Amino acid sequence: MSIIRGCLVVIAWCIYSVIGGASYSESLTLQPLPRNKLLSTFDFKVKSAQFDSSYHEDANSAQYLKESHYTVFPSALGPIIESTNTRELSLRFTQGWWDAHSWGNLPYDGWFSGGTGVEVVALIEAPNVSVAREHWSKLTKTLSGFFCASLNFIDNDITTFPKYAVSGANTGNYRPEVGNKLYLLRAALPSEPICTENLTPFLKLLPTGGKAGISSLLDGHKVFDSLWHGMSVDIFTECDDDGGCKLNLYQTVNQVIDVVRSLRKKEEGGIPKPTPGEKLRCDTSKEHNIWQCFPLSDPVELEWSLDTLYGRTIKGPAFEGDLDVSKVVINYDPSAWNITLLKESPTFVATRFVDSHGSDTVVEPIVEPYDYNFKFSTTNSSVVVPITPPPLYVSRSLMGYSLDKGGLRVVFTNPGTKDVAFTYFESLPWFMRLYISTLDVTLKNSSGIYHVDDQSQFIKSRYYKPAVDRQRPSQLEFDYMVPSLSTLVITYDFDKSLLLYKEYPPDANHGFDIEPAVVRINDGSHRGGYEFRTTSLLLTLPTPDFSMPYNVIILTCTVLSLAFGTIFNLLSKKTVTEEEFEYASQNTNLAKLKRAVLSKFGNFKTKVE
Ligand SMILES: *[C@@H]1O[C@H](CO)[C@@H](O)[C@H](O)[C@H]1NC(C)=O
Ligand SMILES: *[C@@H]1O[C@H](CO)[C@@H](O)[C@H](O)[C@H]1NC(C)=O
Ligand SMILES: *[C@@H]1O[C@H](CO)[C@@H](O)[C@H](O)[C@H]1NC(C)=O
Ligand SMILES: *[C@@H]1O[C@H](CO)[C@@H](O)[C@H](O)[C@H]1NC(C)=O
Repeated sequence: MSIIRGCLVVIAWCIYSVIGGASYSESLTLQPLPRNKLLSTFDFKVKSAQFDSSYHEDANSAQYLKESHYTVFPSALGPIIESTNTRELSLRFTQGWWDAHSWGNLPYDGWFSGGTGVEVVALIEAPNVSVAREHWSKLTKTLSGFFCASLNFIDNDITTFPKYAVSGANTGNYRPEVGNKLYLLRAALPSEPICTENLTPFLKLLPTGGKAGISSLLDGHKVFDSLWHGMSVDIFTECDDDGGCKLNLYQTVNQVIDVVRSLRKKEEGGIPKPTPGEKLRCDTSKEHNIWQCFPLSDPVELEWSLDTLYGRTIKGPAFEGDLDVSKVVINYDPSAWNITLLKESPTFVATRFVDSHGSDTVVEPIVEPYDYNFKFSTTNSSVVVPITPPPLYVSRSLMGYSLDKGGLRVVFTNPGTKDVAFTYFESLPWFMRLYISTLDVTLKNSSGIYHVDDQSQFIKSRYYKPAVDRQRPSQLEFDYMVPSLSTLVITYDFDKSLLLYKEYPPDANHGFDIEPAVVRINDGSHRGGYEFRTTSLLLTLPTPDFSMPYNVIILTCTVLSLAFGTIFNLLSKKTVTEEEFEYASQNTNLAKLKRAVLSKFGNFKTKVE
């Protein structure tokens, strides 16, 4: 097995090094977070070999280039991107809630983290909107099959053309052909669950196929058993001034693991059991006996390894012989943590203490063809690298007025001492009829709560595109400014529409998921600043009583069967007196036969006697 793996790796590496320009690199960053959590971020970067951006004019050269620039770039995804004229594509799969108060900034400043569910954004080159929509529809349907996600449900009624990103969008110097324009389309599916079947195609995109390098750690059961996890795929075209273009593919997997839970699962084999009495950690400063125990919080003295968390180890470098391709970065506080690197092969075991020389970051390249495992031990797991607090906290919630009317309330809190300006993007389904005129702004700061009459003080610009029933969602892009150490509360009302019978999902009483809003704190540069999402919302609409037809049928059937039985009896039966019955029963054929038999038998008996 390992020989085959070695051969594959060598072949891959040869192809890799022969095709100049194409490149691949991967890294895994591990960072312990407070309360025994661990943030692990995997990132994979693939650059295709250079091709001429004018290739689509010349069929022969296109063919030639198609063959050459998909060496490390996944050949499965390339043609989808090319046939739909997609210049930039971002796909985000996320589940869980990022606890910004204890975990700080999102990894990569949030640029690769989506909101709950699935999110697709594509920059498509087309002569006009209708062509762009066609390409978009084709793109989402193909990606749906590719990633086993319900992206095929993306329709006009949830697709938006966001404005916010266009100014910041960097197509990497890409210039559309004469007569063409670039259209940015976006859609989100907040109720889509993320699971193993989405990870498998994700790993297939990597040149290593998830068999070597850091991606060999990724196991669906462990990745999705975390407090928060996200997967992202980003493709963009990058061109230099001479028109030579490259396709870039960035893939990331981010997750926050509860280390104590992983340890417990490893010990108990996955089936939760009550903790036996002698293992309970009781607060000894309070009363404790066999009946009473005030539990202590999780232990701070821990020891775990990659093997504990992922059930696997890193199977050597992505491409053997290359020194720069795979690396593991660890951000930790060396005063409380000791990290040991274990290298293993069937014939050899080596252990090495990882020394960061006092700094809180250590980079460990994965070079040799061994199984790499990192062991973490700590005397106090609450000593971690200080987290960076996010520039803004946002919470969004629904307010209920009545069955057919509701309100949205968004609270922006600026914890810093500088004013924060940002773009707030929200796309709401057409069945929420917004009344922007009811928008109300309240400011809270240390000197009190103020109702704001002059909204332009805090809302710098507004863009609002109302929804059209069953055709497009409403789209809201406001530029806000929140003063330092203040909280801005925005509320607005909406009406809930009645849907058609067939528009309700099978579990209509569960409610409708409303996609998260996007908050982008832009500092002007491409992917500079910070981006994050609010949580998704669950809206209950007036729902018809779907059991009513059933009840009606049941009741009608009961009434009918009762009526039928009675009437049938009345029509087909006759009421008789007892005498009539006696008389009639003596004259039935059976009675006659019985009498005949009895008389014959009587005769026979007298004869015998
Ligand atoms: C859009 O462009 C296509 C191809 O150039 C053309 O056939 C179509 O008529 C155009 N549609 C509109 C609405 O302009
Ligand atoms: C790290 O290892 C050294 C040497 O074994 C030991 O003296 C030290 O106490 C350990 N520190 C932690 C935080 O475990
Ligand atoms: C662990 O570190 C935290 C923060 O530095 C400190 O408050 C706590 O007392 C320490 N706990 C132990 C058991 O050393
Ligand atoms: C609080 O907000 C009000 C109204 O905008 C403003 O007049 C006041 O100076 C603010 N107070 C502080 C402490 O920033």
